[in-house]
Amino acid sequence: MAYYIGIDLGTSAVKMIMMTACGDIVRSVSKEYPIYFPQTGWSEQDPRDWWRAVKEGMKELVAGDGGEVRGISFGGQMHGLVTLDEHDEVIRRAILWNDGRSAPQCEYLNGVIGKKTLSSYTANIAFAGFTAPKILWMRENEPELFSRIDKIMLPKDYIAYMLTGSFCTDMSDASGMLLLDVEHRRWSREMLDIVGITESMLPQLYESSDVVGTVLPSVADEIGINRDVCVIAGAGDNAAAAIGTGTVRDGMCNISLGTSGTVFIARDKFSVDENNALHSFAHSNGKYHLMGCMLSAASCERWLVKNILGGGSYDDEENAIKTLGENRVFFLPYLMGERSPHNDPDVRAMYIGMSMDTTRADIVAATLEGVSFALRDSIEIAREGGGIVRSTICGGGAKSPLWCEITANILNMEIVTLEKEEGPAFGAAILAAVGCGEYRDVEEAADKLIAHKHVYRPTPELVEKYDERYMHFKRLYPAIKELYKS
Ligand code: XUL
Repeated sequence: MAYYIGIDLGTSAVKMIMMTACGDIVRSVSKEYPIYFPQTGWSEQDPRDWWRAVKEGMKELVAGDGGEVRGISFGGQMHGLVTLDEHDEVIRRAILWNDGRSAPQCEYLNGVIGKKTLSSYTANIAFAGFTAPKILWMRENEPELFSRIDKIMLPKDYIAYMLTGSFCTDMSDASGMLLLDVEHRRWSREMLDIVGITESMLPQLYESSDVVGTVLPSVADEIGINRDVCVIAGAGDNAAAAIGTGTVRDGMCNISLGTSGTVFIARDKFSVDENNALHSFAHSNGKYHLMGCMLSAASCERWLVKNILGGGSYDDEENAIKTLGENRVFFLPYLMGERSPHNDPDVRAMYIGMSMDTTRADIVAATLEGVSFALRDSIEIAREGGGIVRSTICGGGAKSPLWCEITANILNMEIVTLEKEEGPAFGAAILAAVGCGEYRDVEEAADKLIAHKHVYRPTPELVEKYDERYMHFKRLYPAIKELYKS
């Protein structure tokens, strides 16, 4: 039996699955690591914690079956800035995708270099989460550390480097650095000059299902796998989730309700929306995609239930919600600022519209609805390019039937859950199988391996009620944004 491992290096944990070539998941393991918020709006993790967690998890995952493992690949939290010195030591904790400290550098990039110019070099504009503004932040604020940089890489690429010694990345993840010429799938020399780095500091570019090396003998022995196991480049977590949910053909859509909330639309051809409100990135099947990303999605429910309401169960809180479409309370889900479509790292979350008869269930419902309304902000832009009437859904939020129903009605589209809910980890394992030649390409693998579970259909009455509520929701951000400008 040949086994393929998918490693999803997430923000709250690393999730690893081991599957057969036919897509049966034999075992899965999850390991958490700390996240640091050293200042409001900042967010960091230590790459060495990731590596420790991956090694520990891998040992459990393969226990007894290590000899059968053929390939390993990744999905990873995108955009994070990992820096190594000439001795391959981590220089500082990684600055993550939801860290807003580089707002001034984004103002410089978007304002002085100019959005049009950035878009012509990279197909994107600057967002605080992207890697290039963070490199500029480090250059300006930590010049001594910046001068020690020998290698710059993304989170999952650090794991690939530790596993194989191969300094590599893939096109989908590289797209989120604001250093890649996405259309032509090569580093943008102009951007490297703007940021003040050289190409030798950046990893070699691969397509997601390319083999980047084999596991280093000492690592293979420690984990308990053969020394010839192939490592495949992998993808950013959203592109990996797209593979794991079958979002591989033109116009297909996937929504991820994880720590972040994303709307991912696969495109055969390269395209950029008019105002660069959506990200225009390379897909992990050699093609392209458009994406809107909210910085806080299922994390809003986790924050409310665990941090604020005292740690009860999601089911209990959600079961107390008896009606939909009647809630007068709104929640603006900007706990870490917002990326798509507002590009505003300073804005903060807010509940609004409470009265004396507001209940705990109304607050919970408002939280779920607020995230889905904010997703609609991105969907509305994506719909300008053609109707999107159906989407798969993955991530922790997809486990909630109530949230799926709310989302179907707020977005007025069919929301489809998957038999295998592992999203990015499943996509990563599929990339490993494709890279090892089990399938011709990711499309063939997706056709054979992905099965739908349930379709949530919008109902006209609820769609109408939520449409009306969305018209109010849309007016809230413009009304409050000035409160948070320093
Ligand atoms: C995408 C993004 C997030 C992270 C979460 O642009 O920033 O979805 O990849 O892991």
